[in-house]
Amino acid sequence: MRFSNPTWLPLVCLAVLFSRASIAQTPAPAPTPAQPWMNPSLDPDTRAGLLIHEMTLDEKIRLVHGDGWGVLRAGAPVAARHNGGAGFVPGIPRLGLPDINLADSAVGVRGAARDSRYATLLPSVIGMAASWDPEAAHLYGSVIGRELRDQGYNMSIGGGVDLIREPRNGRNFEYASEDPILAGVMVGNLALGVQSNHIMGDIKHYVLNDQETGRNTLNAVLDKRALRETDLLGFKIAIGLANPAGVMCSYNRVNGDYACENDYTLNQVLKHDWGFHGFVLSDWEGTHSTAKAALAGLDMEQPGDKYFGEPLKQAVLDGTVPQARLDDMVHRIVRSMFDKGVIDNPPVRRVVDPFQGRDDAQKIEEESIVLLQNRDSILPLSAQEKSIVLIGGHADASVLSGGGSAQVDAPGGHPGGSVWGKAVYFPSSPLRNIREQAAPDATITYDPGTDTAQAAKAAAGAQVAIVFVTQWMSEGQDAATLSLPDNQDALVEAVVAANPNTIVVVENGGPVTMPWSAKVKGIVEAWYPGIGGAQALANVLFGKVNPSGKLPVTFAARDSDLPHPHVTGLTDKTGNNALTEKVDHGDDPRNFTVDYNVEGMMVGYRWFQAKDKQPLFPFGFGLSYTSFAYSGLTVAPDATGATFTLTNTGARAGDEVAEVYVTLPDAGGEPFRKLAGWKRVWLDAGASQTVTVPLDPLYLSIYSTDKDAWHRLAGDYKIEVGGSSADLPLHQSITLAAK
Ligand code: BGC
Repeated sequence: MRFSNPTWLPLVCLAVLFSRASIAQTPAPAPTPAQPWMNPSLDPDTRAGLLIHEMTLDEKIRLVHGDGWGVLRAGAPVAARHNGGAGFVPGIPRLGLPDINLADSAVGVRGAARDSRYATLLPSVIGMAASWDPEAAHLYGSVIGRELRDQGYNMSIGGGVDLIREPRNGRNFEYASEDPILAGVMVGNLALGVQSNHIMGDIKHYVLNDQETGRNTLNAVLDKRALRETDLLGFKIAIGLANPAGVMCSYNRVNGDYACENDYTLNQVLKHDWGFHGFVLSDWEGTHSTAKAALAGLDMEQPGDKYFGEPLKQAVLDGTVPQARLDDMVHRIVRSMFDKGVIDNPPVRRVVDPFQGRDDAQKIEEESIVLLQNRDSILPLSAQEKSIVLIGGHADASVLSGGGSAQVDAPGGHPGGSVWGKAVYFPSSPLRNIREQAAPDATITYDPGTDTAQAAKAAAGAQVAIVFVTQWMSEGQDAATLSLPDNQDALVEAVVAANPNTIVVVENGGPVTMPWSAKVKGIVEAWYPGIGGAQALANVLFGKVNPSGKLPVTFAARDSDLPHPHVTGLTDKTGNNALTEKVDHGDDPRNFTVDYNVEGMMVGYRWFQAKDKQPLFPFGFGLSYTSFAYSGLTVAPDATGATFTLTNTGARAGDEVAEVYVTLPDAGGEPFRKLAGWKRVWLDAGASQTVTVPLDPLYLSIYSTDKDAWHRLAGDYKIEVGGSSADLPLHQSITLAAK
């Protein structure tokens, strides 16, 4: 949710400062006979049971909702022990139960400026996912967890795993992929990294919150099988891997009911089918009822108590909501606190280590950068280059970050914290890094790119031109088109007309179109690169790092190739970068439906294959400064794995992401290949390795709505292996029995 009018900020700062002494958490008290739940040798459920037994009705009610808007809204009260994050749930000191201090932390800890703290800006989540490296995802989460802990928080709100169904969605930079397996594995590992710091992790926004336009009211419609096999599958994988403390239900409706009062997605799928033991918290003001929401499986209202405060107490007293259900909500919250260690190992404040954070962010970005084009091997550039001009994108000083509740405050940035709705640049200077580190003997100049003719002139005078194009995206708004904003296509056209040795570096929230792609020599996809972005970029551009990222999303050539050529509900009236709140959805918000049955299971690359459309760049694609060859595929009996030989046929060492896809038998009704596994492999120049990619039987199964269960069909399965969804040199068919 947004930070509003900054005039209230000084008050909040004072409140937070004065409360500082009381926030410092002291180590958990040793168990006494009176507090047997403090015994860490007992399991979390037993401990929660013992503690809840001592709680009054009022204390239980206090735990199942937040304390109000706090620092997020001008004039809202801020409790003494509130740590300045998006949410605060006061604990019960008499029972030794600590407060829950929740901070938005999708790409780093939000809101540090208010208390003069520092937080590392990581590359965007979509970038991290482009590494296809679960270890990078874990590192990503562990940076967030470490810095939350350093700042006195004990719960993260992040872990966006919504599928990139809508490539113009303003929050795609917070999400991982259009593919449910890649998204689930990467975000699950991210949440594991967060929780490795004794921080309660969260996975959000459950579910089908795949566009921002109309997000508070839209009804996302998708049939059960497709829902299970796509968006829900991503959540299932992430939740299964991380066992997070929290799952945040989203603002939108899902097949009629709001996601935060949706019995099917919450009770039936999440809690019953997947056995989720943590708690469901609503997105901020995403709760719409008391009894309906409580009975459907919502466990905590955020940020306030409109439905789960006094009204819930009355509902329990009059029996509309059974006492046992309230106890279950409380149990889920308290057992998660024990389970994730926030009671036994409360956060201990210290100064965030900005150097470690920057190094980690750089390492992740170096794996995330995707080399999309390299004609005439223009890259890597040589340190002997004579003259290079950098153009546009504020590349003289900084890199771009994404907006909304994922916004991290920039060092030296806006006093009081970032301003909602405004692009924030971070001080990581490509110009300086190239000039001082990568090519100290070359003449490196900068042109802001604001005057096309001037930029072309600057380009004509240099050996190489590097144009930095940017697409700022944010929560609360979608892009009306895939086109780059602010006439940047014309800028690239003008530069490449003046200098054929043009390289384009893209800093973007999600897929964009590139009408100039055939003309430029190099295209480097950098996403929002994070605080180590400039170093990572310089290392890739000059070959110190061999690029290895692969696209986690399809880049369409044009909007009209997408299943939804226009963002549903985004009207001319609202235009590009319109805030959600301004979207006109008529008198009855339920009339505003996003029909995801248009593509159903054919999300992203599957749509392009099934409809025989050529994307600009396909899912899974990414070049290297070396080359790889695939040979000798053997699929294990029962398709439990694919084994093949991977050879580095070029002159440089590098990482290759080897991808395995499966096409189900015709009876499955899925006329497209689906990602079923991958492995990131490091190979020296000329080296070969036998690679085995395990295949999870789930990924070869379909969801049967008749049986309400996953099962494998009998028939012929085609297994394909290669370096991109559109380049799969190896294939083998295997006949499998039903399972
Ligand atoms: C966003 C959530 C965020 C919450 C609290 C909402 O607007 O959708 O992702 O965690 O605000 O800031």
